[in-house]
Amino acid sequence: MSTTVPRPTSDDLLALLRGVIDPELGSDIVELGMARGVTIDDDGAVEVTIALTTAGCPLRAQIQKDVKARIAGVPGVTSVRIAWTEMTQEQKSAAMAKARWNARDRAPDTEIPPTTRVVTIASGKGGVGKSSVTVNLAVALAAQGFTVGVMDADIGGFSVPRMLGLGGRLAGVEGEKKIVPHEKQVGDGLLKVVSMRFLVDEEDSAVMWRGFMLNRAVQHFVEDVRWGAMDYLLIDMPPGTGDIQMGLARMLPRAEMLIVTTPAVGAQKVAARAADMARKTYLRIAGVIENMSSFTCDHGTSYPLFGSGGGAALAADIGSPLLGQIPMETAVSAGGDAGVPVALGDGPAAEAFRAIARRIVDEAIPPVDMAGCTARLLENVEAALGPA
Ligand SMILES: Nc1ncnc2c1ncn2[C@@H]1O[C@H](COP(=O)(O)OP(=O)(O)O)[C@@H](O)[C@H]1O
Ligand SMILES: [Mg+2]
Repeated sequence: MSTTVPRPTSDDLLALLRGVIDPELGSDIVELGMARGVTIDDDGAVEVTIALTTAGCPLRAQIQKDVKARIAGVPGVTSVRIAWTEMTQEQKSAAMAKARWNARDRAPDTEIPPTTRVVTIASGKGGVGKSSVTVNLAVALAAQGFTVGVMDADIGGFSVPRMLGLGGRLAGVEGEKKIVPHEKQVGDGLLKVVSMRFLVDEEDSAVMWRGFMLNRAVQHFVEDVRWGAMDYLLIDMPPGTGDIQMGLARMLPRAEMLIVTTPAVGAQKVAARAADMARKTYLRIAGVIENMSSFTCDHGTSYPLFGSGGGAALAADIGSPLLGQIPMETAVSAGGDAGVPVALGDGPAAEAFRAIARRIVDEAIPPVDMAGCTARLLENVEAALGPA
């Protein structure tokens, strides 16, 4: 362990649980009063008490998975146990009132559905292939039949539109201050894309934007885009740990991070930055992706041009899984330049992107299943309480 992170406090862990959303009530389990308490002992063993609205809730498995995923990867945590209890009738009514209040109060705030898995693609520094990874994973997920949003939050350095071959202005919704994302069909799936590129007239005029303005632009993407139904939202982040990252984390506390690195970038340095980012934003790091892993020449010999082992070392350091390695391949940059992502075609890099997309769906960040218990319960409570 090369990064020394102090053992998290119960409050730190409770803050992390704000990222666990009850998909049907659309609020996080802390706010709903479902997360009752967190303890951590000297050995790093964590116990979380969760109160369910009803003991037989089919969402229990999902909540358990999400709670464990959020807590288990935190440095200093050695084990996670969940103690289940059931809410009293009074607590249930309070939770439902809260959910109902949020539904009214929050609806205008974000147009991103509560069941969408939000994934930010981040890195310690620029040029490691964040944007390439974002568009290729988006395409690979869409090819599996998912609806995937792509938010280009690298306001000053946008490259998503070029890489996806999209241009032209975004349309507004008639009579409303809403914008409609560009759509692109991929197999049975669909991409929904927004970028500053679609809102400014010249390719480089957003580059001059600074601080507050950049944040406003991202806020606009979260609040004013008519995203509609969406399984995943991938966010291409600007490099570093600045204002935009913090702002997004505040607006979307349930987001999870994927860290892109290269074998060359010192794992310890990236680990320190990633841990810093996770600590400041309370976002969970769901996995590490190593890009530009090795170059295979036409004769089939592999050359680790940028060294090797960086991804694995980083993953071990931050306690997150290494989801895959993408080889250095001219088809990746050529595909980016042509607006036809390599993941749509064949070859080792395309295969690597598809394999990572499968791991995301199967284990790292599975899509939200609508199990159907609390929403029905909410209806019953509504019916019992009459119009509020
Ligand atoms: N696996 C790869 N093989 C070859 N070229 C790559 C690969 N990944 C990224 N590139 C190229 O490297 C450059 C930087 O990638 P980009 O995705 O724009 O990085 P970032 O968004 O982190 O700044 C681009 O020209 C891109 O085409
Ligand atoms: Mg980029």
